[in-house]
Amino acid sequence: MSIVIDENLGLFTLHTHSSTYQIKVGPYGFVLHTYYGPRIDGEDLSYLLPRRSMSFSANPADTGSDRSFSMDSQPQEYATYGATDYRESALQVTGPDGAAYADLRYDGFECCAGKYGLEGLPALYGEGFDTLKLYLIDAHTGLRVTLLYGVLEQEDVITRAALIENRGTAPLSLDRALSLCLDFPTSDYDLYTFHGRHCRERIPQRTPLPHGKLRVDSLRGASSHQYNPFIILCDRSASEDAGCCYGASLVYSGSFLAQAEVDQAGATRLVMGIHPDTFRWSLAPGDVFTVPEVCLTFSGEGLTGLSHRLHRAFRDHLCRGKFRTARRPVLINSWEAVYFDFDSDKLVEIARSAAPLGVELLVMDDGWFGKRDDDNSGLGDWVVNEKKLKGSLAELARRVNECGLGLGIWIEPEMVSEDSDLYRAHPDWCLHIPGRAGSRSRNQLVLDMGRSDVQDYLLASISDVLRSANIAYVKWDMNRHLTEVGSAVLPAGRQGEAGHRHILGVYRLMDRLTAAFPDILFEGCSGGGGRFDAGMLYYTPQIWCSDDTDAAERLIIQYGTSFGYPISTVGSHVSVCPNHQTGRTTPLRTRGVVAMAGTFGYELDISRMSEEEKQEVSAQVALYKRNYTLINQGDYYRLSDVMAQSDYAAWLFVSPAQDRALFNFVQRYAQAASPGFRIRLKGLKPQARYRIGDTGLTLSGAALMGAGLYLPPMDGDYGAVQWEIEEI
Ligand code: DGJ
Repeated sequence: MSIVIDENLGLFTLHTHSSTYQIKVGPYGFVLHTYYGPRIDGEDLSYLLPRRSMSFSANPADTGSDRSFSMDSQPQEYATYGATDYRESALQVTGPDGAAYADLRYDGFECCAGKYGLEGLPALYGEGFDTLKLYLIDAHTGLRVTLLYGVLEQEDVITRAALIENRGTAPLSLDRALSLCLDFPTSDYDLYTFHGRHCRERIPQRTPLPHGKLRVDSLRGASSHQYNPFIILCDRSASEDAGCCYGASLVYSGSFLAQAEVDQAGATRLVMGIHPDTFRWSLAPGDVFTVPEVCLTFSGEGLTGLSHRLHRAFRDHLCRGKFRTARRPVLINSWEAVYFDFDSDKLVEIARSAAPLGVELLVMDDGWFGKRDDDNSGLGDWVVNEKKLKGSLAELARRVNECGLGLGIWIEPEMVSEDSDLYRAHPDWCLHIPGRAGSRSRNQLVLDMGRSDVQDYLLASISDVLRSANIAYVKWDMNRHLTEVGSAVLPAGRQGEAGHRHILGVYRLMDRLTAAFPDILFEGCSGGGGRFDAGMLYYTPQIWCSDDTDAAERLIIQYGTSFGYPISTVGSHVSVCPNHQTGRTTPLRTRGVVAMAGTFGYELDISRMSEEEKQEVSAQVALYKRNYTLINQGDYYRLSDVMAQSDYAAWLFVSPAQDRALFNFVQRYAQAASPGFRIRLKGLKPQARYRIGDTGLTLSGAALMGAGLYLPPMDGDYGAVQWEIEEI
């Protein structure tokens, strides 16, 4: 058991393979946090708790004349607002008296093998977990909080969540209910955040913690392109290969807050959860509110070690369904090939050209339903436009299948166009505020997904389409952020629940659809990677990484994404040049190498390619299939700092047995008189000998990792090298 409990000492110690997390029931029954870091066995670490009198840090009422105890300086598991802690709180509750106040004290525990689940919310699951439940109570109001801890020993993962229950007799209002409160005694850390915009998601930024609050957040109703709900706190000296790193990933897809606060004493508090600014939840007597999960990971071996642990945990304990392990097809998507301008014949022509090259699935993207020849109409009408297709979906599927490919389709369930039969029939089904005009984005409105009638309509209409034909894949898109977040089915006093209820509704629909169609591969998408988060990965084992398909740009986007998310989840395609987003031209070879650091596919009109290009595509597909398990299940190593080095990018996949590897290199910005590149590999066996692609070279792991590979400079920008490396 990874959880060690000493009831006499009130000590709860969570051990993973290389970390320890310790909780102590402290003076007056407060639930305190003593330590999180490299593994320490058999110690009560509560000697670390501060005992000091600080002016202007108040003392809880029952501390009497003891001025040395204030919640303002005690490290805590779940800090509340109102009772002497002035730092960012995890929980803020308004009681029947109208005052914002909660005072939580220890009220018992439970511990068991296995992982807790969260009703209606995504969460990590599976074998290898142990669960600790700590009960805290506010005796004055009857508010009971159950802190949930899931310990996945072998991956150095600790998950946290909470249940907040009104066991009193009067209604309570939750004004904030975060998922994580994690206190560190010092502030000598850097914080990694991942920022961006549409077509430029998850750009890493490393900032030394300043005094005050360093936060990233989203008020967009989605996790967003702009900031990702994943952060890393690391030692100032931490590198890819050394140093303590703490990852925190929110398993949630709506508005969120992630923040590091350095307080007056130089201590650090991390908080993470549903964004409190737009959240308010009424908790009637007997009601329980479930707080989303946060996944903590620790690595004492630097950032690469952190990514490896998270990659494995998400691959094996978050992604679900058949395609968690089954090989996913190499696909060709119609979007950048034909946009809205297609019929069955055009799609079958693409399928026919793609089949001999090894491509396995054709995705018919946006434009096949309702009245949808551009992005101004049709959303919500999930009825096949047989006139446009010149036949039924079943007929198209049959023709594509005859070419040897599966057929996939695009949907955007959460949206409605004003010019649609759905909107004309149910104008109140969208999020709106009575009397106020609805803001448009991509000329569409957002359905109120918290409503069960909306969910039922979408389930029925989309299921009818999926049942009508042999559909192997669905791309689930979401192309605008939320405004006028009001629901026609909630009373005025509960409108603060609309945003979270919306996300719960999205999850409910995803759960029902994916359960009803277990053989369909679902890919997430939100204008590219606008909802690339751990919550979505519970329903869709891959997510379209970005609408920017330019290989040079993807080097940066996929580099940032790799810190927190496994390669098997990163949707990545080869597209045409000049690239549609940047106008840049990169070699087809390079586009293939870059797209292979993800769920590989194409997004161009293969029927227009030259014979030479088709041969290149065929070779790429064959190489990808040969290395599928290595890429998708192996360890991924960042061999360059793409943000700091402008001249090249390199990365490596290594098999778990360390007997195979795939080396990838792109020369970014060619320099005159360049001496070439020497790149050290990682993760190999020092004593083993390896054959390096078609170079004729064989080298020991020690040489490859110590001295490295040598690559001469190439003429021009964006040349690529890809070598399969095998132990001999
Ligand atoms: C945004 C997606 O990211 C694109 O790949 C494409 O599916 C369009 N939406 C279609 O409208």
